[in-house]
Amino acid sequence: MRISFEDAVEQLKSGEVVAIPTETVYGLAASYQHENAIKQIFSLKKRPPSNPLILHISSEEELDFFTKEMPSSALKLAKTFWPGPLTLVLPARKERLSPLIRAGLSTVAIRMPSHPLTQKLLKETGPLVAPSANLSGRPSATQGAHIEEDFGESFPFLDGAPSSSGVESTILIWGADGRWHLGRAGAIPEEELEHALGEPLTESLGSISEKRPLCPGQLLRHYAPKAQLVLAKQIPEDAKVILGLSGRTYPPRSRLLLLGSNAEEVAHNLYETLRALDRAGIEKAHIDVDLPSGGLWSTILERISKAANNQ
Ligand code: TXA
Ligand code: MG
Repeated sequence: MRISFEDAVEQLKSGEVVAIPTETVYGLAASYQHENAIKQIFSLKKRPPSNPLILHISSEEELDFFTKEMPSSALKLAKTFWPGPLTLVLPARKERLSPLIRAGLSTVAIRMPSHPLTQKLLKETGPLVAPSANLSGRPSATQGAHIEEDFGESFPFLDGAPSSSGVESTILIWGADGRWHLGRAGAIPEEELEHALGEPLTESLGSISEKRPLCPGQLLRHYAPKAQLVLAKQIPEDAKVILGLSGRTYPPRSRLLLLGSNAEEVAHNLYETLRALDRAGIEKAHIDVDLPSGGLWSTILERISKAANNQ
């Protein structure tokens, strides 16, 4: 249920959970100071408590307030990419952040979203924790209708139009080895981050701590529609349903759902198209993965591969 900006502010301040727009995907938000609301996020999403949440802030002072031992490169990344779809994982000032948010880790994931309505909201409510606003495992929500699909028509959301990027933020983790690691590919291509840092990122699960992955959520089932997705570089003639790119030729008798013609369009449309399969009751679809390499295409391919791994 769409609610007004004023109601969203009031509900968040009084410890309720509200879905909010961001430029990447919608988030299921709660005030970082309301433990009960944070617990409710986990139960609403059916999210394991071992998977920590991202803290959304609206000023660089807040970055300072919640973190410690920040390397100068963190500030440089923040100045270059914030507000925007970059999440930084840094050593936390633990006394200022509930362990529920951090899943007991000594780090916190922080980002400053660029969506104008979200920025305005954060100025009123203070920092908000928010995972993507989908049931755990489902494609993320990129518009209000997706919130209602997953949480019911009476679930409150602030409407900020469809999310412009359509895929989640890129996550960089500051490692104990004094280097930045890619925790999750995302809306900002890896190459742009490496260019800003002047050095390559290390893509490594578990290289810092043997016991757990850098980004706990990355191991879970993700982004998956109920429909079976088949990745295909060449679409077979008998494919019944195809998720394809505009301007390409596909088997003529198939039903074709278009993702877009360039990486930005495909990212923007991806989750809505995956959800559309389920709304139409489609059980199986072939998806064209004859995609260019690098940049945002790498993120798209990662999301598609995870979405297909749904058996
Ligand atoms: O674009 C986004 O990042 C969206 C919007 C709403 O901001 N949020 C989002 O949240 O994608 P979520 O919860 O779906 O994904 C957050 C990821 C998870 O994989 C989680 O494991 C990881 O961030 N994460 C959170 N805190 C972390 C930490 N302290 N260390 C390592 N990974 C962390
Ligand atoms: Mg998510």
